[in-house]
Amino acid sequence: MNTFTPMTSVERLTGFQRSDLSDLCDATEAAIGAGGGFGWVTVPSRDMLENYWKGVLMVPERQLFVGRLDGVIAASAQLVRPARNNEAQAFTAQLQTSFVAPWARGHGLAKAVTLAVEEAARLSGAGLLNLDIRETLTPAIALYEALGYTRWAEHPFYALIDGRPIRGLYYYKVLDAGLETLVTATTSDHSRPMERLS
Ligand SMILES: CC(C)(COP(=O)(O)OP(=O)(O)OC[C@H]1O[C@@H](n2cnc3c(N)ncnc32)[C@H](O)[C@@H]1OP(=O)(O)O)[C@@H](O)C(=O)NCCC(=O)NCCS
Repeated sequence: MNTFTPMTSVERLTGFQRSDLSDLCDATEAAIGAGGGFGWVTVPSRDMLENYWKGVLMVPERQLFVGRLDGVIAASAQLVRPARNNEAQAFTAQLQTSFVAPWARGHGLAKAVTLAVEEAARLSGAGLLNLDIRETLTPAIALYEALGYTRWAEHPFYALIDGRPIRGLYYYKVLDAGLETLVTATTSDHSRPMERLS
C-alpha cells in the first residue's frame, strides 16, 4: 500500500522564483481545462498567461496567494482591496480567482488558501470578505458555505459559457465581529423609522 502523503504549504507570492511562474501557468492551464479557470473559458497562450500573472504582482490592491504540493505551485487565489477612491467600501475585500489544479485536489489546498486570504484580509484591515462564483462550481460552493460564507444574492446572467447563461452566487463573510454588531444595530434601527421621526 502507498502511504505517501504529499506536503502542502500556502504563501503570499510577491515575486517569482525558479519555476514558480511556469508552475503557476501549468496549474492555471490545468484548471481552465477542467472548467474552473476563474473566468478563462479557453486556455490562453503561454505569453498571455505569464503577462497576466506578472501583472497581478504589479497591482497594489492585489495580493497573490499560492498553494504548493511538494513545493510545486498547484493552487492560487487573490485578495483584492478596493481602490483608494472607494472610501465607502474601504472596510471590504474580495476573494478572487481561486482554483486548484485537478491533480492537486483533495489535499486541503483550497481550504488552506482560502483561510490564508481571510487572514491576510484581516491583517490588511478588512472586516468583510466578498466573493462571487458560478453556480456550477458545486464543490467550491460547499467549501465556502462550510467556511461560514453567507449567500446574499444570485445573478441569473452572471456568465455566458458556450452560449449558455450561468447563474452566479454572491457571498460574504464577516471577519470582524464588531462589524456584525454594528450591522445588527443599524438594521433594527431602520426597522423603526416612524419611531425615530416622531
Ligand atoms: C473546489 C476546489 C476549489 C476544491 O479544492 P481542493 O483543494 O480539492 O479542496 P480541499 O482539499 O481544500 O477540500 C476542502 C473541503 O472541500 C471538500 N471537497 C473538495 N472537493 C470536493 C468535491 N469534489 N466534492 C465534495 N467535497 C469536496 C473536502 O472534502 C473538504 O472538506 P472538509 O474541510 O470537510 O474536509 C477545486 O476542486 C477547484 O479548484 N475547483 C474548480 C475551480 C473552482 O471551483 N474554483 C473556485 C471558485 S472560482
